[in-house]
Amino acid sequence: MKILVTGGAGFIGSHTVVELYQSGFEPIIIDNFSNSEEKVLEGIQSIIGKSVVCYKADCNDAEALRQIFQKEQLAGVIHFAASKAVGESVEKPLMYYENNLGSTVLLLKIMREFGVKNFVFSSSCTVYGQPDSLPVTEATPRQEAASPYGNTKRICEDIIRDVVVSKAGLKAIALRYFNPIGAHESAVIGELPRGVPSNLVPFLTQAAVGLREKLTVFGSDYNTPDGTCIRDFIHVVDLAKAHVKALSLLAGVDTEDYYDVFNVGTGEGVTVLQLIQTFEKVNNLTLNYTIGPRRPGDIEQIYAQVDKSEKVMGWKAEKTLEDSLRDAWRWQQRLSK
Ligand code: WQD
Repeated sequence: MKILVTGGAGFIGSHTVVELYQSGFEPIIIDNFSNSEEKVLEGIQSIIGKSVVCYKADCNDAEALRQIFQKEQLAGVIHFAASKAVGESVEKPLMYYENNLGSTVLLLKIMREFGVKNFVFSSSCTVYGQPDSLPVTEATPRQEAASPYGNTKRICEDIIRDVVVSKAGLKAIALRYFNPIGAHESAVIGELPRGVPSNLVPFLTQAAVGLREKLTVFGSDYNTPDGTCIRDFIHVVDLAKAHVKALSLLAGVDTEDYYDVFNVGTGEGVTVLQLIQTFEKVNNLTLNYTIGPRRPGDIEQIYAQVDKSEKVMGWKAEKTLEDSLRDAWRWQQRLSK
């Protein structure tokens, strides 16, 4: 079964392409390489032992998309391609709404034209904002997004749901990611942040390898055990496997119309300091970090309840925080060679 993977050369996309192939699917990548590098395709090839079909195109380019749908007999689509920098989205909201909403609407339109019914959407725990109670379940009310980026995820979920409700013959799942970290154990694919990383783990590994002078922990005065924020850090390979499970679930659904959402996290909340200490322990090194002021827009704590993903999708995270941080370090060391 051919599956179109938009943004398939990205961090989560590339790991999902590997898992799709290793589960018997035939992944077809579309990527405009605006936030990824073509060398990722070589990394994927070295893992799966064959080259993967990749179209260098933008998901807002209707003609390019129609040509791909015309040529490839697709059984489904996994939609990763999106702008995803929270801070940038505040500065450039129109770019975010045009890219993230526009590509989703166009993909759904063209899927309908070609009778492609299975759609997995890359959503985010950002839709929960700062939840009133923890852990968050899929029934936890979504809150006003703290950024245009988070708002695009929330709006896209509603667009997809409304298309399903319209009896368009769409079967769709939105996966709400928590904090993806780590890299493939082979260390030939991983996170490739552009410029100064805004996310914790890539900045941390760059500090550990000497690319950054030190890591700043944004705030230690939160109402948490050690004062630093709590997040649900999930290994990117576990996250990738959740997409395979989602596709398999959709393939088995015999109703014409289906929509559901799933939390994809570990179910464990970890503080920033706990992550740092775990990184130092598993990699036997001392990290140069300092405590700084809070980062505007950060929520204090969020982590997932993942019972539904296990019961309905048959998926559960298998890798530990130690695995993620060991793999993240191995990847950084290879990058820095
Ligand atoms: C995690 C924690 C920071 C950097 C974002 C997106 C979310 C998802 C994952 C896409 C926070 C602290 C960070 C640093 C630090 N992306 N931190 N020093 O903000 O939880 O989530 O990425 O779906 O949608 O919002 O991730 O890694 O930026 O921050 O102390 O140099 O690490 O304050 O508490 P975040 P993050």
